[in-house]
Amino acid sequence: MAVFMSFCLLLLFLNQSLALDNGLGLTPQMGWNSWNHFHCNVSQDLIKATAKAMIDKGLDKHGYQYVNIDNCWAASSRASDGSIRSDPVTFPDMKGLIDYVHSLGLKFGLYSDAGTKTCADHQPGSLGHETQDANTYAQWGVDYLKYDNCNSGGSKPEVRYPVMRDALNKTGRPIFFSMCEWGVDNPATWASRVGNSWRTTGDIKDNWKSMISRADQNAGLWSYAGPGGWNDPDMLK
Ligand SMILES: *[C@@H]1O[C@H](CO)[C@@H](O)[C@H](O)[C@H]1NC(C)=O
Ligand SMILES: *[C@@H]1O[C@H](CO)[C@@H](O)[C@H](O)[C@H]1NC(C)=O
Repeated sequence: MAVFMSFCLLLLFLNQSLALDNGLGLTPQMGWNSWNHFHCNVSQDLIKATAKAMIDKGLDKHGYQYVNIDNCWAASSRASDGSIRSDPVTFPDMKGLIDYVHSLGLKFGLYSDAGTKTCADHQPGSLGHETQDANTYAQWGVDYLKYDNCNSGGSKPEVRYPVMRDALNKTGRPIFFSMCEWGVDNPATWASRVGNSWRTTGDIKDNWKSMISRADQNAGLWSYAGPGGWNDPDMLK
């Protein structure tokens, strides 16, 4: 009994010291993301129709919660005060869109990048603007941020991702932080303190072969004995 108790306490302790503590991601996140099907062809009307369809089809009753826009929602330049703006043609009223998604009882996600530009190249990234962008997202009512890894200038994700984590935390709004550094720097060894989730592979496509190949890569990560693998002392820190 005593052994069992101390094991539980150890788990509790590990849980507190290892995980990002914003109350989110206690179970895997479930929702929809625009990228695979729509790529850059996204608009306010499309996202509204998608959110409505999630409710009409009852997906919310099965735990699907997030409606997430991926790349290509922002204007190609920042406002004169440096703040990020939504594309005036495709997303003329981001706040209104987010209010609509919330009115359906769903949560809303956006996308940015830990570099100077996102992976689509015409959207500004958040590097150097982390606080300003986190504040804008919190004001709009964003619940989730996917944070990509293009145009980073070559510095390590371990350096760039915690800056956004801290900026999101300082807004006071719990925002799920989804790290997307594609597994390039062994995120299993450090990312639990930084993100609510972290990508371990390159892009997945919506077909069986792609899904299984990602599962295989993750199985390989677990059995692998080197950095980030099962016997890496960092994994037990
Ligand atoms: C973009 O989306 C609109 C509808 O939202 C559709 O009519 C159009 O065909 C799409 N364009 C491309 C290139 O997929
Ligand atoms: C900010 O971080 C502190 C310390 O980890 C945590 O207790 C708090 O819940 C976080 N707040 C938000 C809004 O993420």
